[in-house]
Amino acid sequence: MNLPAGHVPVMADRVRAILAPALDAPGAVLVDATLGRAGHSRALLRDHPGLTVIGIDADDAAIAESRHLLTAEADRVRLVQSTYDEITAILADLGVDSVQGVLFDLGVSSPQLDDPGRGFSYAQDAPLDMRMDQSGPLTAAEVVNSYPADRLARILRDYGEERFARRIADAVLAERSREPITSTLRLADIVKTAIPAAARRTGGNPAKRTFQALRIEVNDELGALRRAVPAALDAVAVGGRIVVLSYHSLEDRIVKRALSERSTDTTPPGLPVSLPGSRPQFRLLTSGAERPDDAELAANPRAASARLRAAERSHPATGSMGAVPPGPAAA
Ligand SMILES: C[S@@+](CC[C@H](N)C(=O)[O-])C[C@H]1O[C@@H](n2cnc3c(N)ncnc32)[C@H](O)[C@@H]1O
Repeated sequence: MNLPAGHVPVMADRVRAILAPALDAPGAVLVDATLGRAGHSRALLRDHPGLTVIGIDADDAAIAESRHLLTAEADRVRLVQSTYDEITAILADLGVDSVQGVLFDLGVSSPQLDDPGRGFSYAQDAPLDMRMDQSGPLTAAEVVNSYPADRLARILRDYGEERFARRIADAVLAERSREPITSTLRLADIVKTAIPAAARRTGGNPAKRTFQALRIEVNDELGALRRAVPAALDAVAVGGRIVVLSYHSLEDRIVKRALSERSTDTTPPGLPVSLPGSRPQFRLLTSGAERPDDAELAANPRAASARLRAAERSHPATGSMGAVPPGPAAA
């Protein structure tokens, strides 16, 4: 498929194959909760001529660019600039009760990383911004220049899994007392200087984990995901499917928990029948998390950390089925 360089959709063939049975239904609707440059959505619109896509992205540049990229399919596309945890309100506004597919392709896009003005990259100098939604209230510069050391260290440790979180936080406080830290390269340099020399030589750029942690904090990424996945599951019709691509273990853990909660029979052990409302509503379509294959990893290094999980709605949300014998938790 002809996509502009830098917009290569991750695990696209697998995403298409998993969603295909659900999206062939007449009048099918897919929510692409992380539209980006519409790489996945364009492929799915082409695969399914009857499909309508509701494309959500927090970044107005992603919405504007995708509107252009999807000109040929404009009558089958609704684009909304919003965070994905607003999915329930977005569907209500569009008058959509339920959908046949949901896709989340989490994190930052290649164009966002490559745009020096956005401040996501430790490899080029830019103002410390990192907001997906450029009208959002919090920038990375505000986090770095105003958070107390304890809070900063906790963010670096929890969201970046950074071993030297305390040392980095202390170094940031010492530096900012001299002069506010406003640029990506200055922050990257402070991080590099703060960690032990031996650690600088292993594991890639030492600023990587700090930048990931700040991005997660600035965009409330984990909070938004915790709210969004259950809301998305609520919107999926029986036979509909959800696919989530995560890029670090914190995201993947939230997704795994949300999918397995809905795919597990919660009837207390020992009862001969499943209680109404306790029967699993979904069945897992992936066993564990799937990874990109070697060919994709060789062609697209940014796919390296991808983990894919998927599920299909097998039963409606309410206990309308009455008591039924317990079934398998997942296929
Ligand atoms: C990895 S990219 C998606 C790429 C897309 N699948 C494609 O093929 O072009 C992730 C996108 O999600 C968006 N995003 C991140 N957090 C978001 C949130 N909380 N709500 C809505 N969009 C978000 C980013 O702005 C970015 O454009």
